[in-house]
Amino acid sequence: MTKHYDVAVIGAGAAGMMCAAVAGQRGKRVVLLDHATRLAEKIRISGGGRCNFTNIGAGPQNFLSENPHFCKSALSRYTPQDFLGLIKKHRIAWHEKHKGQLFCDDSSEQIIQMLRAECAAGDVTWRMPCKIAFLRKEGEGFVLATDGGDVHARNVVVATGGLSIPKIGATDLGYRIAKQFDLKVIEPRPGLVPLTFDGPSWQPFVPLAGIALEVDVSTESGKGRAAKRGHFREDLLFTHRGLSGPAILQISSFWTPGTPIMLDLLPEMDVAEELISTKTTQKKQLGNVLGQWLPARLAEGLLAANGLALDARLADLPDAKLRKLGDAINRWAIVPNGSEGYKKAEVTLGGVDTRELSQQSMMTNKVPGLYFIGETVDVTGWLGGYNFQWAWASGYAAGNAI
Ligand code: FDA
Repeated sequence: MTKHYDVAVIGAGAAGMMCAAVAGQRGKRVVLLDHATRLAEKIRISGGGRCNFTNIGAGPQNFLSENPHFCKSALSRYTPQDFLGLIKKHRIAWHEKHKGQLFCDDSSEQIIQMLRAECAAGDVTWRMPCKIAFLRKEGEGFVLATDGGDVHARNVVVATGGLSIPKIGATDLGYRIAKQFDLKVIEPRPGLVPLTFDGPSWQPFVPLAGIALEVDVSTESGKGRAAKRGHFREDLLFTHRGLSGPAILQISSFWTPGTPIMLDLLPEMDVAEELISTKTTQKKQLGNVLGQWLPARLAEGLLAANGLALDARLADLPDAKLRKLGDAINRWAIVPNGSEGYKKAEVTLGGVDTRELSQQSMMTNKVPGLYFIGETVDVTGWLGGYNFQWAWASGYAAGNAI
């Protein structure tokens, strides 16, 4: 059966549902299509099942994009306080955690039900599960060929997300639609992802799997306008294949293959200075001294990796050796050989080039009536609720403009 709508939104995830609800409540006839059998799986699994739905301090500085100014407009017109207003309206209990991150007290399912209710208030029509064969321009509008028949719409919003976690339904449909209409796509790559290291060079650290500690992590690559620099103080986790934890997820989005990441395992202390200044008064063994500052297994692993015996006496070691050890702890530079990829990545960096879009409406400049929102676009947030804030803000911008 052929149906005509003002707006067809492809992808009923965070951005798609927000956009459909806003457009529907403005009186637009909206259809929301998704190929998944379960609604909004990414929201469901987010934040360990409690959905870190925004970050109270979210601003343009928390996002990566080849065009860093693009996100300012949408973020300023739909803020974390606006989303919190919706949460309060639906009486969802929430709490603030670490660094402004807001979570549901109970379950991320509440966010899904809230967005579903907002769509119902806008009389949104659902087509789910629904396979989309192709999209084509026809006259002033578009035709979507689906396994449930053709859908005609004056406007189409692409909200199909990124490539992360393919097993719950991520596809490249958004990028394919962009390319079909000759829009530039910045090469997608996994972000917020654990990093891996060469088997043999990582061997000494394998026994450290499970150790977690707060570190400073940084990385730098490129020059001039292409320069990227990330710096975070967060928890690091050693795994069997490499490094993970919030520190590594954060830095992974800034990391360029072939370049090192820099770790400071004791950011509050100049280890070399401390070792040298106490060596005359300390008759202790090196392993015991480091064990006061670092988890014992980590201290052991670091000494082994630096060719130092656990029972070496601090007083017997030359300053040069202590300086080298201090560097290994305060300035540990390691080059990852890759990442755990899309199966573990929380987000996809890159996507539809924002220079193809209006920052007010998210509509493409070349194809009137075609919009891109959410993670499909080259705007990627840090870890900590920023990616949902972008989904809400970009969804609101499009839903309000159509
Ligand atoms: P989203 O992925 O939500 O939705 C895309 C929709 O499009 C899906 O419903 C999909 O089925 C549909 N689709 C895809 N291809 C299609 C096709 N070919 N045909 C039809 N439909 C199609 N962020 C955050 O801020 N706080 C957090 O706590 C977390 N936690 C988190 C945990 C984990 C494990 C992951 C993987 C990710 C997070 N994130 C997060 C990131 C966050 O989930 C993500 O950035 C947003 O869901 C993106 O919203 P979108 O609506 O753009 O895509």
